[in-house]
Amino acid sequence: MVIQGYPNPGDGLRLHLNENTGGCSPRVLEAIRRVRPSDVSTYPSYGDAVAAAARHFGVDPDWVLLTNGLDEGILMAAVGHIARARVHDAETIVPLPAFDPYPNSTAAVGATAIRVPPGPDFAFPTQAVVGAITPRTRMIFLNTPNNPTGQLIPAADLARISEAAPDAVVLIDEAYIEFGGTTFLPELRRFRNVLVGRTFSKAYGLAGLRVGVVIGQPHVLDPVRVVTLPFNINGVALAALDAALGDEEFLPRYAAQVAESRERLYAACRRLGLQYWPSAGNYVLVRVGDTAPFVAALAARKIHVRDRSRDPITQGCIRITAGMLEHTDAAIEALESVLAARQR
Ligand SMILES: Cc1ncc(COP(=O)(O)O)c(C=O)c1O
Repeated sequence: MVIQGYPNPGDGLRLHLNENTGGCSPRVLEAIRRVRPSDVSTYPSYGDAVAAAARHFGVDPDWVLLTNGLDEGILMAAVGHIARARVHDAETIVPLPAFDPYPNSTAAVGATAIRVPPGPDFAFPTQAVVGAITPRTRMIFLNTPNNPTGQLIPAADLARISEAAPDAVVLIDEAYIEFGGTTFLPELRRFRNVLVGRTFSKAYGLAGLRVGVVIGQPHVLDPVRVVTLPFNINGVALAALDAALGDEEFLPRYAAQVAESRERLYAACRRLGLQYWPSAGNYVLVRVGDTAPFVAALAARKIHVRDRSRDPITQGCIRITAGMLEHTDAAIEALESVLAARQR
């Protein structure tokens, strides 16, 4: 069978893709219901949405490129800055553990990903990243909070790496920043080589509609803009984005649920003797040992989590989405039951 995207895990609680477990704002659904036939039959116009996003992020509209999810932004950044520039022998730097689209986009444009392993306990390898910079380095992917560890990269380290690679584009992926940490956006004026990536998939719960954004000074954003297809975001997603930005209560309410859910997961791990890493994202990385039977046993209890063993760096670990409290409680109950069964 040909599979596009990720296989559907089936019935149960989806805690495997760091989605918003509570869904989107009701205002988003109202906006979608108000969509007119002509909104569907005509190609979308992006001006208003770009202006609204620019206001939201506190930058000028020409610093903003809306993308079909941040996934598209990552790929287009590589296309614009490596493939279109016809750079031969180009390298990107990918600190580990990393979100798959960084090495995949690197490969898609014929470049080589230089993977930099983390320090003990997934400490961010700032010195090693700086040491990996060569004249061939075209892009550096920095992810804060990191997926899957949840760790933050200090702003001083983001700045240090960006300063050390003036000829490379540094893409700071802030997909989860609404759940913890401080955005690098206010620093962008100082950096001619930095792009910040954001998404509405996670905190805003629009993953199914695909809206991301790449932000940066025009001269570093424009090479990405020119390779991005002209109608990359559909009109329904634009209506949803407008409504999502208009609901100012939605985000703090959900972020508070996530923060409390993380605490409950930590407490459960301590109680159950499982190693975990404190996270600034809407997920927690937990070491469980032999992951395959563990993940299957959770799935049998209708709790779907991410098996991180495919990546040697996170061998023996699972990643659990922290969302609405009732979902976290259900996950904890399933964890307890699987561990109790394992000890029998
Ligand atoms: C670190 C990171 N960046 C970017 C994305 C892409 O999000 P989207 O394409 O849904 O905007 C994700 C989604 O899982 C992610 O984990």
